Amino acid sequence: MTESGPPFGDWVDSVQRRTETALEHFLPAPVIAPARLHEAMRYAVLGGGKRIRPLLCHAAGALSGAAPGALDAAACAVELIHAYSLVHDDMPCMDDDVLRRGKPTVHVQYDDASALLVGDSLQSLAFLLLAEHCAVAPEVRIQLISQLAIASGSRGMAGGQAIDLASVGRSLGVEELEFMHIHKTGALIRCAVRLGAACGQLDPSGHAGLDHYAATLGLLFQVVDDVLDCEASTATLGKTAGKDAAANKPTYVSTLGLGRARERALELHDEALESLASFGDAAQRLRELADFVLTRQH
Ligand code: IPE
Ligand code: IPE
Ligand code: MG
Ligand code: MG
Ligand code: MG
Repeated sequence: MTESGPPFGDWVDSVQRRTETALEHFLPAPVIAPARLHEAMRYAVLGGGKRIRPLLCHAAGALSGAAPGALDAAACAVELIHAYSLVHDDMPCMDDDVLRRGKPTVHVQYDDASALLVGDSLQSLAFLLLAEHCAVAPEVRIQLISQLAIASGSRGMAGGQAIDLASVGRSLGVEELEFMHIHKTGALIRCAVRLGAACGQLDPSGHAGLDHYAATLGLLFQVVDDVLDCEASTATLGKTAGKDAAANKPTYVSTLGLGRARERALELHDEALESLASFGDAAQRLRELADFVLTRQH
């Protein structure tokens, strides 16, 4: 036990379990028409994934004094957008991947049109959760909705994905690469932290540090994803390894080389921790999550 609660692994298990339960509850039952679409939505979301974004949402909520029960809807909303982004990312018109979270991708298991509609429907459901199931004051709810909209759209994840696709075969400079990563992956991770913090009461003096942590962690997350794509096995990743090089994608590894990419990950990890320096024990989970993102094996 730490002063601030159970050991990190136990806390991760408990947040993953409560997120799974909440997602099961929020996703339409597979018996409701259109049954095949609802079944495919559940296939895309349930029973897999590290749930990093919900973990960040809960950790930021703990910092701002929000009870776990007040964070489930926001945590699930971000995870639904993430799951939708993966379904579309894997489609033949994007990364053309057949394996995700150790299972056939949605367009392989179902078909392309279903994968499109699963993504569309998960996105809508995410906003419905914020609108109807998030127990915060109405003016805060509007802020959550607009932050998730910005983080998901052309100025966030979808915009980053557009840059990714337009960059195939090009060699990007580090600044261009980071701009892409900050959008395609960083925006949603940053949003998970922001939403969690907004569900409680954070002293305004803490906002800048927390936001810098979130932005740095988002970039770190994609640097590590790029390194793992090159170093880890398909079996460990649960998705096809070596896909970036095969598809000629600009990544940290292709731009900087593997050694420098690993160093950049260490730098970003240290920078994320420094951003939390003004917080005490209440930020312990956020620190542990930075370690987790750096050292993850899949
Ligand atoms: C993979 O995200 C895609 C990126 C944004 C880099 P995760 O590594 O969080 O995937 P899951 O949710 O654990 O499957
Ligand atoms: C995906 O990046 C980012 C989003 C889904 C928004 P990648 O294409 O590198 O993710 P993986 O490696 O397929 O999980
Ligand atoms: Mg991609
Ligand atoms: Mg991909
Ligand atoms: Mg990748």
